[in-house]
This record gives sequence, structure tokens and C-alpha cells, in this order.
Amino acid sequence: MLIVRAYRVIRPRGLPVLLKEQGDPIAKFYLHDAGLYERQRLCRTYDLLFEHQWCGFFSLSNHTLKIQATAQWMSELMRKKNIPREPPGILLSQLFICEAMRGKGHGAEALWHAIRFCLKSPAGCRILVVDPLDDQTKNFYKKFGWYSARGTGKKMYFDLLRYEETMREVRRLYPAESPANQLKIFGKMETVEPLQRSLI
Ligand SMILES: CC(C)(COP(=O)(O)OP(=O)(O)OC[C@H]1O[C@@H](n2cnc3c(N)ncnc32)[C@H](O)[C@@H]1OP(=O)(O)O)[C@@H](O)C(=O)NCCC(=O)NCCS
Repeated sequence: MLIVRAYRVIRPRGLPVLLKEQGDPIAKFYLHDAGLYERQRLCRTYDLLFEHQWCGFFSLSNHTLKIQATAQWMSELMRKKNIPREPPGILLSQLFICEAMRGKGHGAEALWHAIRFCLKSPAGCRILVVDPLDDQTKNFYKKFGWYSARGTGKKMYFDLLRYEETMREVRRLYPAESPANQLKIFGKMETVEPLQRSLI
């Protein structure tokens, strides 16, 4: 299991692994901008530790999407219910697993932690948004039930209400699966876009 720890300016153990990847723009963000953004209250960064060794991080900040960017069913339902506002959300501005640790399920588990944090938000929070680096990374998010946001380039979003509702059933059917695997099962269930869902 990963341990998630609030970002510290003191560099964590295992960072030399990351330093080798300085060419990676996300690694650059961690080394140069994360501390500054933290102090300026622009985003919050969380370190990921596996067996006490640093293996990656993710960053979150407040965000929203225009209602027209969400799926047609969602914008139509909002209009029908006369909810005249954009869905409040959180931007997963960075998610990084260092190269040596990839392919072991840490990315999926980190995503689950990020979702868990957003569900606990003390403010209204309906969606999680991400701006993936490229099409390959888009496939990573797609696997976990993220949708492409319409008319926003590469942006994608994740419906926290849909997740909350569906996960009750997933947990009932697959109680022995890890949270990351349950998230993957949710992703599979999300491949068919429903025609009608309840918003509130
Ligand atoms: C994307 C990233 C976070 C994935 O981390 P990871 O630890 O390798 O992911 P996992 O091992 O948990 O993989 C979970 C699933 O996603 C798939 N996957 C992983 N990386 C993928 C990618 N880049 N594209 C498509 N699918 C991917 C895996 O095959 C796996 O599916 P499976 O269980 O059916 O085989 C990691 O590769 C990374 O940090 N990349 C560089 C930074 C980046 O692109 N971040 C995202 C932009 S915000």
C-alpha cells in the first residue's frame, strides 16, 4: 500500500531516482515549482511513499469546467433541473510515478487516493479534472472511468457522484478486491455512457 504524505520542502528519501528523470516536465515541476505553488496556495502536493521510499506525487488545486464541456446528458440534466452553475471540482494538476516504480499498480492506487481526498472536500465538489500530457496518458485515465471534456482540447473529467453511487455496488460485488482494482472495475462499468442519471 502507498502512504500519502503532504509535500515537504525537505527532499524525501529516494529522490535521486527522480533526479535522473529531470528531463520529464512533471519531474521538473516537482523540483522547481511545487514548493513555490505550495507557499502561494496555488496547489497542494502530496508525496507517495512505497515501503518508506519516495515513488511519486500528485498535486491538487481548485478548478471547474463549463457545463457545456461535460457529457451531453449532464448538461441537459442541469438545464432541466434548473441548476444554473458550473460543476465545482478539483484539478489533478500532476500525477507522477517515478519510472522505476511504474507498472506495479502505484498509479492506480495514487488515483484512488486523489479521488478519496476530493470526496472528503469540505466544499461542494462534483468533478475531478485532468489535462493529460498526450493520447497515451489519456488511455490511462480512460481505464478508470474518466471522460473527455467537450471542446477543451485534451482535458478529461471524472464524475465523483457517479463514482460514489456505483462504488457501493462494486464494493458489494467485489469486497475482496483492493481499492485500486475496484476503481478499475468502476472504469470498466463507465465505458457505456448512461442516457439518464440523477444529479441530486
Ligand atoms: C501514467 C502513470 C502515472 C501510470 O503509473 P503506473 O504506476 O505505471 O500505473 P499502474 O501500474 O497503476 O497502471 C494501471 C493501469 O494503467 C495502465 N497504464 C499505465 N500507464 C499507462 C499509460 N501511460 N497509458 C495507458 N495505460 C497505462 C496499465 O497498463 C495498467 O492497466 P492494467 O492493470 O490493465 O495492465 C505513470 O506512467 C507516470 O507517472 N507517467 C509519467 C507522468 C504522466 O504521464 N502523468 C500523467 C499526466 S497528469
